[in-house]
Amino acid sequence: MKRLIAFLLVISLLSIFVMSIFAEPTAIGAEKCGKMCHKVEYESWLKTKHATQEPKVDCEACHGKGSDYSKMSVMKDPAASKAAGLIAKPEKPFCTEKCHKANFKDDMLQKSHEHKAK
Ligand code: HEC
Repeated sequence: MKRLIAFLLVISLLSIFVMSIFAEPTAIGAEKCGKMCHKVEYESWLKTKHATQEPKVDCEACHGKGSDYSKMSVMKDPAASKAAGLIAKPEKPFCTEKCHKANFKDDMLQKSHEHKAK
């Protein structure tokens, strides 16, 4: 009986491990992005239509869901953060695909929020 329990325990731990590898990233929410690091982007985004409309178009709608790339060590590594789902620079096709079909202007990319001075 003990062996059976041990076996089942190992199997369930293994399946949790395998599932976590293949799990899709999940959203962590704009507040977290803003509070953790991106204050400038967050505060300016709050004043845009993307933030006031329903449903909101938040950070992760444009930049990809953050559960896997939001960790500092991943975020600081461009290749790792890209592999973890970060879209560092969202581009025109994303904007025009569903929403800005007729009214897209190139400067909209720059205007999605303010940017931290480099
Ligand atoms: C509507 C889409 C959209 C939303 C919403 C959005 N971004 Fe962006 N973000 C962009 C685009 C487009 C760029 C690249 C701009 C460029 O090419 O100049 C960018 C660039 C950035 C950058 C890199 C440049 C910089 O500002 O230093 C950061 C960091 C960033 N966004 C964070 C955020 C955070 C945090 C939020 C949520 C509070 C957010 N973004 C919401 C579209 C968006």
